[in-house]
Amino acid sequence: MEHTTDERIILNPAYSLREFRILTGKTTLNNTISEIELKTKLCRKGDGFFCLNMPLISAAMQAVSGKEMAISLAQCGGISVIPCSIPVDEQVKIIKDVKRHKAGFQEEVVCFSPESKISDVIDTIHNTGYSIYPVTDNGMCNGKLIGIITDKDFHPVNHKDNTVSDHMIKDLDVAEEGITLDEANEKMIKFRRGFLPLVDKDFNLKAVVFRKDIDKKLNFPNELVDEKNRYCIAAAVSTQPRDYPRIDALIKARTEVIFIDASDGYSDFQISTLDYIRTKSDIPVVGGNVITAEGFMHLAKAGFDAVKVGMGIGSGCTTQETKGTGRGQATALMDIVKARNEFQKQTGNYIPIIADGGISNTSHMAVALAIGADTIMMGRYFVQYRESAAPLHRHPKHGFVKEYWMEASKRARNYGRYDSSKDIFFEEGTEGYVPCVGTIHESKNIPETLLKIKSSMSSAGCRTVDEMHKNCKLELQSVYSLADGAVHDIIVK
Ligand code: IMP
Repeated sequence: MEHTTDERIILNPAYSLREFRILTGKTTLNNTISEIELKTKLCRKGDGFFCLNMPLISAAMQAVSGKEMAISLAQCGGISVIPCSIPVDEQVKIIKDVKRHKAGFQEEVVCFSPESKISDVIDTIHNTGYSIYPVTDNGMCNGKLIGIITDKDFHPVNHKDNTVSDHMIKDLDVAEEGITLDEANEKMIKFRRGFLPLVDKDFNLKAVVFRKDIDKKLNFPNELVDEKNRYCIAAAVSTQPRDYPRIDALIKARTEVIFIDASDGYSDFQISTLDYIRTKSDIPVVGGNVITAEGFMHLAKAGFDAVKVGMGIGSGCTTQETKGTGRGQATALMDIVKARNEFQKQTGNYIPIIADGGISNTSHMAVALAIGADTIMMGRYFVQYRESAAPLHRHPKHGFVKEYWMEASKRARNYGRYDSSKDIFFEEGTEGYVPCVGTIHESKNIPETLLKIKSSMSSAGCRTVDEMHKNCKLELQSVYSLADGAVHDIIVK
């Protein structure tokens, strides 16, 4: 359908998140900071939703989301999206490592057979840091359990040429598979053990539980875990058919959510990728990125479980300069939130929205949630932490910095995201440095960010993200109002 010039050319400017301020709502006993709930919908799942325990997602970028980030962020209740611009084996290994790292029931533990050499056990202890191992008849994690071996059971020099059967403990305390983590914990206390193997009726090893993992759990009451108490993790795929084997591998590795990673998600390729995924699994799939109501409707009607919003506004993004495409994030969100609400009215289906790009300040996070985003994806914000996948350097002027390179920079060359190839490629993103501010869990970092978001919600008179969407009022500010809102007329110490 052709459009008139008036329809095609919008003369109202698009707005940035930084131009809005949240108006106060009534604070009551029900929405003081301690009562605020940050749990929010990431995407649809089955008849309900897959929720995060707080609204932050680390971007699908090489510099940002790797194993360390995914673990620390899941401990806080958020989720990482492992990028598809790395080889599939690497991407799958990160997912498996994160799942295995955890806490609770571990199914794929290193085991020894009775014939294994003590020298192998010593090497494994050095490499993994774990000091207790099951011994099974075939040395595999699904074999029949016949003992355990710990670092206390042999002398590292005198016994290194002996076999595991010479030193293993055969008198075992075990539990049957299917018990809960709390029951496992009670048994470990009763047996005075830091380790509990779970077996089936035939004594085949099914999983093990480590006490130190359960202790860790107490430090992270909001951690995001699956039904087996393993950390949740998401992964990206491109819309290129060459990524179909990647999709298969990610599903097999038990990724929670697949994000389709494309700078422009208003395309037929999103749909064909979703169609392919649906032939394999009902795993939740996030589509995007889009910046218009039409783009959103295209993905919503196709059956995506959440939609990512934002283009040309990432901190190191040069898309707007090179191609002239993009949109102010507040306007993109407002347009799409309206469409989302309309879609819900018509179909009864609520599609969560992810605000992606250009957000690293807490006030912008709060404004994005207030407009109607359910979660927020960030690269710049997360790369500053030690856990980000980027190398750490000492910069002559700025002290410790993390390198930050965008996905369409020469360094990342994420061909799939930008529909380019090795032969012809232009950059849509740059490279730089971001000061490193320490680890995610330090109180001045994520805990402080979450407190600020809660404080903003409390001032808005809202207890939940859903209430923000329904009741929070926002106002566009004039340049002078914004100037008043910044520090002014004093000499800052
Ligand atoms: P940031 O949080 O402002 O750094 O933005 C991160 C977001 O920028 C990512 O989640 C992507 O949506 C987007 N992005 C990543 N790499 C590029 C690029 O090279 N060009 C444009 N946008 C990018």
